[in-house]
Amino acid sequence: SRSINLAVIPGDGIGQEVVAEGLKVLSAVLPQDVKLETKEYDFGAKRYHATGETLTDADVDALKQHDAILLGAIGDPSVPSGVLERGFLLKLRFLFDHHVNLRPSKLLPGVETPLKGEPAIDFVVVREGTEGPYTGNGGTIRKGTPHEVATEVSVNTAFGVERVVRDAFARAQARPRKKLTLVHKNNVLSFAGHLWTNVFNQVAEEFPEVTTDYIHVDAATIYLVTDPARFDVIVTDNLFGDIITDLAAAVSGGIGVAASGNINPSGEFPSMFEPVHGSAPDIAGQGKADPTATVLSVALLLRHLGYEAEAARIDEAVSVDLAERTGKPARSTSEIGDALAVRVAG
Ligand code: IPM
Ligand code: MN
Repeated sequence: SRSINLAVIPGDGIGQEVVAEGLKVLSAVLPQDVKLETKEYDFGAKRYHATGETLTDADVDALKQHDAILLGAIGDPSVPSGVLERGFLLKLRFLFDHHVNLRPSKLLPGVETPLKGEPAIDFVVVREGTEGPYTGNGGTIRKGTPHEVATEVSVNTAFGVERVVRDAFARAQARPRKKLTLVHKNNVLSFAGHLWTNVFNQVAEEFPEVTTDYIHVDAATIYLVTDPARFDVIVTDNLFGDIITDLAAAVSGGIGVAASGNINPSGEFPSMFEPVHGSAPDIAGQGKADPTATVLSVALLLRHLGYEAEAARIDEAVSVDLAERTGKPARSTSEIGDALAVRVAG
């Protein structure tokens, strides 16, 4: 019989609240014959203050045993900036080789956008997740002096670029519009830009049905606002992807509905699914957070594990729930989770 052995990391702030709702919907959508096992981990600010640890070798070994990881949010103002980001989130992305950072954007009916008219927004950003300027390859000399020099070298390997570009082509091929846009800055970042463009054009030959396009990242930020319908699948570098996916979330319903997957496509390591939003300490514990982004991340998780029908039921339930919100009083975190759980079950 089938089973899912899930690691659950609620984390800090609203992470606790939204993950509870994500699990509620997951339990409701799974058929009887699928055994769901969950183990909760206490990573985040509290553990850091108590022990000074963010993620130990033993933690990593324990997490490796799972089929997938559901993460709420990690981060708190009481922890110096960068400690949990590098010591937990990026550490896991690197150790588990999450090279495909998948961030879909879809503007659903009834959802507000700051854009004019009713733009058709339905694209997926495939953000490289293990290279670029995120590797910590840099240094400082003459620190703290007026002559301080800091470098932060972007690392791009043919191996790393090719595998993420190929993954993006395959995703584009599987979508109705079959279009893939490379977003980079090859007019200025000529070394990395050459590698990305070259690899992109080479892999394109294996996917003759996919229409290709190239846009500089600065121009991409304009098109995301003026003509988001031109995008189907986007593939881009780690930092460009970080920035444009926040913009993508802003135009397609906000971070309340933005889901993401940190994916290791080979399945050698567990993939990790998380809402794009952070721990929002200002509203934590008040039942105000929208669990939708987490619930949609659960759908990505199910799709990754091969439960396509269940993932589609969650997407559909969210779509109906969002469409019915207009004009109604705001609901609490758990009320939204309850409503979605009922919908996916029926
Ligand atoms: C994200 C976040 C992270 C990133 C931070 C918290 C390290 O902004 O998941 O987009 O930059 O990747
Ligand atoms: Mn980000």
